Amino acid sequence: MSYLIGCAETCSAVLVDPELSQIDRYLALAARAGLRLHYLIDTHTHADHFSAARELSERLGVPTVMHRASSAPYVGVRVDDGETLIAGKLRLRVLHTPGHTDDSICLALPDRVLTGDTLLRLATGRTDLPGGDPEALHDSLFEKLLRLDGRCRSFRATTTRARRSPRSPRSGRRTRASSGGSGRPSWSRCGRSAWRCPST
Ligand SMILES: [Fe+2]
Repeated sequence: MSYLIGCAETCSAVLVDPELSQIDRYLALAARAGLRLHYLIDTHTHADHFSAARELSERLGVPTVMHRASSAPYVGVRVDDGETLIAGKLRLRVLHTPGHTDDSICLALPDRVLTGDTLLRLATGRTDLPGGDPEALHDSLFEKLLRLDGRCRSFRATTTRARRSPRSPRSGRRTRASSGGSGRPSWSRCGRSAWRCPST
């Protein structure tokens, strides 16, 4: 899931977790809304899709942003916990939330938080991939995200964790995935959202 967040007053915007296959869509959305991108932000090193941040950065001359623990060589702005990204009147506070990956960040706005793959719907991010750390994820959830205002709405990078398919009553083996019969994990079918942030 990607997010295009724009400031209604200044037409400044940031794009979060862009996917390579959706570049034209992002550009069309931004143009239609009259938004000018200031930052291309990856909430973490993605194992499940190709980021468009580098390609868009080269095309538009807009810096990419990741946590300073990221090993990506093209990152223009490396951020750390507590820092704030500013675009027009948008203020995105960076929360370093390792666990899913060691470079995971969440982005807090006054009334919402983008959780990347740290917190999903009814699940947390995987910790079995390189850089994963269950204890760090526990701390990130309880010491960072759960300390935010309870009215804060959360927006995830991945809609939900791929569900394990049920076991066959006969063989005891797991049956083929249930996501529409395609066998593809749920993130391959995620949509994208664009919204404007209320003036702060
Ligand atoms: Fe991820």
